[in-house]
Amino acid sequence: TRSFSLAVVPGDGIGPEVTAQALQVLNLVAADHDAAFSSTEYDLGAKRWHATGETLPDSVLEEIRGHDAILLGAVGDPSVPSGVLERGLLLKLRFALDHYVNLRPSKLFPGVPTPLANPGAIDFVVVREGTEGPYVGNGGAIRVGTPHELATEVSINTAYGVERVVRDAFARAQARPRKKLTLVHKNNVLVHAGHLWTRTVDAVATEFPDVAVDYLHVDAATIFLVTDPARFDVIVTDNLFGDILTDLAAAITGGIGLAASGNVNPDRTAPSMFEPVHGSAPDIAGQHKADPTAAILSGALLLEHLGLPEAAARISSAVEADIAERGAAPRSTEEVGGAIASRVAEGVAVG
Ligand code: NAD
Ligand code: IPM
Ligand code: MN
Repeated sequence: TRSFSLAVVPGDGIGPEVTAQALQVLNLVAADHDAAFSSTEYDLGAKRWHATGETLPDSVLEEIRGHDAILLGAVGDPSVPSGVLERGLLLKLRFALDHYVNLRPSKLFPGVPTPLANPGAIDFVVVREGTEGPYVGNGGAIRVGTPHELATEVSINTAYGVERVVRDAFARAQARPRKKLTLVHKNNVLVHAGHLWTRTVDAVATEFPDVAVDYLHVDAATIFLVTDPARFDVIVTDNLFGDILTDLAAAITGGIGLAASGNVNPDRTAPSMFEPVHGSAPDIAGQHKADPTAAILSGALLLEHLGLPEAAARISSAVEADIAERGAAPRSTEEVGGAIASRVAEGVAVG
């Protein structure tokens, strides 16, 4: 039996609700694939901040670092000033653990309702840079609250940081049947960072001659995500564009309740972290309405990362089968999680 240690950060709002379902499914499937998880739960989030003023103490960060992988629910709460937990907890983890590949696959499963009239076969993955861009906190404000306030939020793009994520995206494109990579940026306006990204893609492309390379400005990319999403295979983009595009990508493939993600450290110098694309959804928290599918599918990405592809496929098949049979009647978080768990337990295949 292979044992893995899991740091679990349920977080805020619907985070704990969906994480409980994901953990249940993970433990079930592991047992059947000669693996076992020992989980340590960390009570980080709004409650802890109110009680102690802490977001992510360094000692806790170092404890978390000692695990094989991290499962996170969601962070952020209306009772906490916006940004405190998002930056102090979630981004701190992504930056400290060098999660430079934010992997966000989008696939339109059969039977899933989409707002698109002609969706086509949607199956792409966004490789979103995870440690740089406007997220780094390089900015400030002066004369705050006056008519002369000035605020900056400088996007940081390093040759090192861009190249490593671009190379990872090329490798992923090469491993997929269509072998196509689309760089999304805004190099007609953001010429400094944009040209670094474009030049880097051109340079790394010479190492991957069988990968077809394409470029889109981010505004045009949003058009094609709605009018012709089947054209995309692998998209590589910066931290902020990737954030926005992946909520749109979720919306066209069945909604935010289905979208999974991995914050991956490809060099394995620290544990990778898996979480739904969605947030803490304070509007439905505590109502048992949250769809746990995104969290469960994030568990599948976690298994794949740990070298358990068959176990991961078991989860994906169970989810696909559940989705195919979803009716109009609403189900609770626990009902959806339970239904997927029983399919995993039965090893029911799709079709
Ligand atoms: P959100 O993703 O939490 O919610 C957007 C909408 O989607 C809401 O109507 C919500 O009810 C719905 N929704 C989200 N997840 C759902 C699910 N599993 N099932 C059904 N419906 C779901 O985004 P927001 O409202 O912009 O942000 C709320 C809080 O979450 C903020 O504090 C934000 O900073 C934080 N946030 C955290 C993460 C994260 O932890 N990774 C991601 C995004 C937002
Ligand atoms: C996400 C979220 C986060 C992001 C926030 C909460 C920091 O929106 O995971 O998509 O912007 O990366
Ligand atoms: Mn987001």
